[in-house]
Amino acid sequence: MRLEGMVAVITGGAGGMGRDTAMLFAREGASVMVGDVDAEGGAKLAAEAQASNFKLSFLRTDVSKEADVAALIAKAEADHGKLDTIFNNAGIEQPVTPSDEVSEALFERVIDINLKGTFFGCKHAIPALLRNGGGTIVNNSSVSAFANVGGNLSYAASKGAIMSMTRVIAIEYAARNIRCNAINPGVIDTGMNQRNLEKAVDKEALEQKWRSITPLGRMGTGEEIGEAVLYLASKQSSFVTGIGLVIDGGRIAT
Ligand SMILES: NC(=O)c1ccc[n+]([C@@H]2O[C@H](COP(=O)([O-])OP(=O)(O)OC[C@H]3O[C@@H](n4cnc5c(N)ncnc54)[C@H](O)[C@@H]3O)[C@@H](O)[C@H]2O)c1
Repeated sequence: MRLEGMVAVITGGAGGMGRDTAMLFAREGASVMVGDVDAEGGAKLAAEAQASNFKLSFLRTDVSKEADVAALIAKAEADHGKLDTIFNNAGIEQPVTPSDEVSEALFERVIDINLKGTFFGCKHAIPALLRNGGGTIVNNSSVSAFANVGGNLSYAASKGAIMSMTRVIAIEYAARNIRCNAINPGVIDTGMNQRNLEKAVDKEALEQKWRSITPLGRMGTGEEIGEAVLYLASKQSSFVTGIGLVIDGGRIAT
């Protein structure tokens, strides 16, 4: 029960690594409030959690809408009396597109969800964390903040900016007991990469490429990401702030 008594908000938690993290947090004793645009997935998650007697609830949330994010955080605080941590995880991929063909609409959509969504999560969590006497923020960046293969301009731009935002918040609120960190996952086996594979001209070749750029030779799992988020969200990382924790099977070491 590593998170006993903690109250956590997780965005994008109806699927992928957000879902695995939400279930891990609940299993470890946290009260978890999940927000996601996928209402069906959220309802399934809440039912599954309830069957295990976990304290987990779901609120439909579009992180690109400030009012939605504010309402999600307010509900967590109202239901549980406080907020200890937020995992700003919701994000979308950019379909592989040459950079000079990225439309304004595509760029804006990726930035709105990945970057603005993370900004809204930080902005509205901070006052709640201050009322709690402090807490933690974990933002989901990506190895794309550092290493890319091309065709993902708006995604990489959003993830690089999340790293910068993480550092600013870390230094600004350190004295008030808020720690803010990011994670930088490599290739993880989630819905996002299943979609990337489906769209690939040669699925086999893409899988092989992912293996070849990852020294550990496989995709990571949502549970492996959840463990890293748990570390940064909890007291175990009490002297850590402003970092990006790379969880990539060795990719950026190459
Ligand atoms: N899969 C990877 O290899 C990888 C690597 C590095 C970083 N990431 C990041 O991890 C995060 C989670 O990705 P994933 O791989 O689990 O993807 P996923 O597509 O499996 O899950 C993402 C979840 O976010 C939700 N979501 C999408 N738009 C939303 C919105 N506007 N508001 C609220 N929820 C929304 C989806 O419904 C889904 O449940 C993303 O920020 C992604 O960029 C993923």
